[in-house]
Amino acid sequence: MPPERVRKVLKVKNICKTFNPGSINEKCALNRVDLFLEPGDFVTIIGGNGAGKSTLLNIIAGVFPVDRGTIVLDGIAVNNSREHERAKFIGRVFQDPMMGTAASMTIEENLAMALRRGKSRGLRWGITRQEQDFFREHLAQLELGLENRLKAKVGLLSGGQRQALTLLMATIVSPKLLLLDEHSAALDPKTASKVLELTQKIVNGHSLTTLMVTHNMRDALKYGNRTIMMHEGQIILDLAGREKQNTCVEDLLKMFERASGDTIDNDRMLLA
Ligand SMILES: Nc1ncnc2c1ncn2[C@@H]1O[C@H](COP(=O)(O)OP(=O)(O)O)[C@@H](O)[C@H]1O
Ligand SMILES: [Mg+2]
Repeated sequence: MPPERVRKVLKVKNICKTFNPGSINEKCALNRVDLFLEPGDFVTIIGGNGAGKSTLLNIIAGVFPVDRGTIVLDGIAVNNSREHERAKFIGRVFQDPMMGTAASMTIEENLAMALRRGKSRGLRWGITRQEQDFFREHLAQLELGLENRLKAKVGLLSGGQRQALTLLMATIVSPKLLLLDEHSAALDPKTASKVLELTQKIVNGHSLTTLMVTHNMRDALKYGNRTIMMHEGQIILDLAGREKQNTCVEDLLKMFERASGDTIDNDRMLLA
């Protein structure tokens, strides 16, 4: 099939976003960005601080409107739909392990909320035995022993356990699109790589179309089938398939410097 006829899960076309226009704090965060994702694409996003990575994810999720351009999710223009409406189709995990889960609620209550996202049957109906079995089965796949702790308050879990649970909540009903914004960056290296391995397992297991921001070049190359690099609000590099597989961190660094005319401003990006 010629590329233009492959169904796209996401079409981001000619997007511009400037914060605080007309003021001394004016900042063009996205400058004519185009990004098309095919079903099952697992795209890693790399770039220095302030490159526009989080803004790109935020405009897709509907956190704030764009100045120009269109966003089409699974064939439907979503420019005018609000964040909570898009949340029915988009799973998100952020950097902060405290953000994605409700600390005062139990593991099973958190999962039940995720399962009922966008549905009318709320938590007051209770959690059924079948649901508990379903949760145990999914929790066991995390290999963190959480399947035996359904009634534990989430506030008692470690950061890594909470990120793994957030990931499960974001994907327990397969989203059309999964957005991960440096979701392993706040964890210690060992836990971070565990969460990334788990991410890969879940994304591949359900063929989820995914955008994953990482500050780590090695991880950007290791995971996914495509890597894009952002700089000053633009996508300056787009590597996929064999080209991505054949690229090492040193190559990526050279490509970055050539494409941006800049040097890496962020040591974190080089840490392996
Ligand atoms: N809500 C906001 N209000 C004002 N400026 C913002 C906001 N969000 C991001 N920015 C600015 O836009 C630029 C891109 O930010 P961001 O997308 O967060 O970068 P990255 O995630 O690549 O580090 C930065 O200069 C940042 O300060
Ligand atoms: Mg960011």
